[in-house]
Amino acid sequence: MSARYQLTGTTAVEISASIESGIRTDALPPGTALPPVRALAAELSVSPATVARAYQELRQRGLVATAGRHGTRVRPRPPVAARRGALRPPPAPGLRDLSAGEPDPRLLPPLGPHLAALAADAGAPITYSGAGVLPELAEAARARLAADGVPAGELTITGGALDGIERLLGAHLSPGDAVAVEDPGWANLLDLVAALGLRPIGVPVDDEGPIVAGVAAALAAGARALIVTSRAQNPTGAALTAARAAALRDLLAGRPDLLLVEDDHAAELARVPLHPLAGATAHWAFLRSVSKPFGPDLRLAVLTGDETTVARVAGRARAGAGWVSTVLQRLVLALWRDPSVTELIAHAADSYDRRRQALLAALATRGLVGRGRSGINVWLPVPDETSAVTALRDAGWSVAPGALYRIAGPPGLRITVSPLADADIEPLADALTRALHPAPPPHLTA
Ligand SMILES: Cc1ncc(COP(=O)(O)O)c(C=O)c1O
Repeated sequence: MSARYQLTGTTAVEISASIESGIRTDALPPGTALPPVRALAAELSVSPATVARAYQELRQRGLVATAGRHGTRVRPRPPVAARRGALRPPPAPGLRDLSAGEPDPRLLPPLGPHLAALAADAGAPITYSGAGVLPELAEAARARLAADGVPAGELTITGGALDGIERLLGAHLSPGDAVAVEDPGWANLLDLVAALGLRPIGVPVDDEGPIVAGVAAALAAGARALIVTSRAQNPTGAALTAARAAALRDLLAGRPDLLLVEDDHAAELARVPLHPLAGATAHWAFLRSVSKPFGPDLRLAVLTGDETTVARVAGRARAGAGWVSTVLQRLVLALWRDPSVTELIAHAADSYDRRRQALLAALATRGLVGRGRSGINVWLPVPDETSAVTALRDAGWSVAPGALYRIAGPPGLRITVSPLADADIEPLADALTRALHPAPPPHLTA
């Protein structure tokens, strides 16, 4: 912990406020170890129970995490807006940034022509009573989902996948409840689970999706919800196969207490078929965001599911933000209907596939086994993340350390292929090889 930052307070509320303020001002940056409960209690002349309550409150809000003998630390991305502006500092000049998990901006459909068409045909202003899910968008979404074998359920629209997942978890679970999540899994989801005061139970993932025994173990440990990425799993690129989906459906059948959430975020970009679990449980939701194929700034996802689950999400939204702007809904509908956009996205899917497979092949010829069945990332197991990330940075590449995505799984790196040109693949594979097998120091002679 920063030697200069003095924790203060004599009540749990004051102590947690002092820690929160340290996080907000970056005096306690992510990863900072907080003092052991007894040590801080002695320093502040309060009882250990008071400090424990303060830590517990911060844990429930996802600001800190406690990991056994590693003590309590500030989480990597705590949910308080830091004064330091953007959460991700820009990479150092000259560094090629493969750490961001962003879609390739060159491959996103241009919005200009469709915005212009919307402006020309804006119609009368829409007021509270006329707003909600646009029936034409719902109809088009149902047809797109049905084409992929997702059962026709109730449907609503959310402000992206994570917004939908937040509403689902909020409507079905209470703080302290356990949620089964993929390990490694999407960092933003782990942040959300922590911010909601839920307990993540990691389920190991292989190339075919969550491992059945891992899901069974999470259910046995009391998980009340299970979140599965259908394809382009972040960070490993796993995609549910028919066999894995069938086995999981068997396992999940007859679990009326379990909320099943499927996240098909890369749908139009995935070059592998969808094998949905939708409908395997009484309470289920299937989400499809437009972020990766059409652009993250559209902030829109389709959420379908059983009647109760969708009604809870839509009802909770109505009590808060209300609805996703019909302007955005009309824009997404226009993009869906434009054959030239469909063509662009098919081209994007091919481009990601080609670059991902080229990197995996280049690694394989160097004896390195990466993972990435689908999507925009390659996951590379490494013995030590810190030394690999540092060696790569020295070689001019920024990659994401697996720690952001892991609960208990082994270390690795996430490498996003979006910024890569074909000519980058071999030099990158060389740099990764050197980072993982550093040359021994030169032999020193007397
Ligand atoms: C696994 C996963 N799901 C969903 C999304 C998209 O989320 P949103 O719709 O909230 O932008 C992403 C984006 O990175 C992702 O990695």
